[in-house]
Amino acid sequence: MTVVRPPMGWNSWNTFGTHIDEQLIKDTADKMVSEGLLDCGYNYLVIDDCWALRERDNNGKLVPDPAKFPGGMKAVADYVHSKGLKFGMYSCCGAVTCTGYPSSFGHEFDDAASFAEWEIDFLKYDYCFRDQNVPGEVLYRRMSIALANCGRDILFSACNWGSDNSQNWIKTTGAHMWRSTGDIFDGWGSIRDLIKKQFALQTTNGHGCFNDMDMLVVGMNGTGNVAKNDSNVSFEEYKTHFSAWCMFGSPLMIGCDIRNMTEETKKILMNRDVIAIGQDPLYTQPFYAHGAKHTEDKFIACRLLDGGDIAIGVFNLSDTPLNYWNCYLTLNEIGIDISSGKTLKMRELWTGDEITVKNEIFRPEKLEPHCCRLYRASVVDA
Ligand code: GLA
Repeated sequence: MTVVRPPMGWNSWNTFGTHIDEQLIKDTADKMVSEGLLDCGYNYLVIDDCWALRERDNNGKLVPDPAKFPGGMKAVADYVHSKGLKFGMYSCCGAVTCTGYPSSFGHEFDDAASFAEWEIDFLKYDYCFRDQNVPGEVLYRRMSIALANCGRDILFSACNWGSDNSQNWIKTTGAHMWRSTGDIFDGWGSIRDLIKKQFALQTTNGHGCFNDMDMLVVGMNGTGNVAKNDSNVSFEEYKTHFSAWCMFGSPLMIGCDIRNMTEETKKILMNRDVIAIGQDPLYTQPFYAHGAKHTEDKFIACRLLDGGDIAIGVFNLSDTPLNYWNCYLTLNEIGIDISSGKTLKMRELWTGDEITVKNEIFRPEKLEPHCCRLYRASVVDA
């Protein structure tokens, strides 16, 4: 199967960890539809680690934990599908999963057959406790081949955290998305570091196998499985997080408890204009304005969009304000020469504010620490 846009959906890990069950999944499926998330494009509902019994059955098959999933996985998949959603599950290429449940190494074809029987549409495949004698790329190809031959289209989501230089080999495995960096936590420092790591990785991103920056922490507000003692991410910081994931074209897998989203959380996760940047079908990679003092902490990232618009994101990841003399953008460096008689009309996608670039230079307003502005710009007559 071919995957042409960064996948979108919800994953159980960030909030629920091991505390997952059939009712939670059904309630989450209901909410994905009733809250309008499906309409925004979030169509995969994925159960992460901790769904199985600790032992395989006598035939070597994985067994869903009957205390958590009394009706079995096919029933859960049927329910999820009845809502117009797709259903995802999790396994690992090691001896056991990261939390010690049975893993698929040496059982790839059996497990792919179970996943097909349960009618899943997505498999997240982790990298814990692996056999060090087998290269990572072979481990991922083993499952990729098994899935591709299981008789069902199953999106293959590789999760090896960018380790073992996977940017060099992940596309040989047939994965449709790959975790290019380590696990996210519900803290500003984690969000900031994951953004910065994408600079070096963005050339590996593209159609068919998208760089996964990890599940979103938007709306977790210090609760759940990936909270830290200092989890107090602000609304502005969550906006920066979401904007960056879209600017870099990452898959968008929600990690918060969508049964209890605040209005602020909905405002971020359901901003269709921002989502449209992340899902833009041209799928170009960002380039950067080299205005004065462009740094990894204060930068303007731009992307050419399908249809001729340009996405422009002003990011201040630093702890000091961004002023226009820190960071600015000339039309010339975008590729719009003065002799063309053209300029940009820009709409900020969080506030709706509109500006038209004058005198060939876009100088952002002062931007507080950890904040961003994300614009969609149209080419107009100057
Ligand atoms: C790893 C992954 C996480 C999650 C856990 C589950 O840490 O990177 O996203 O799947 O395993 O145990």
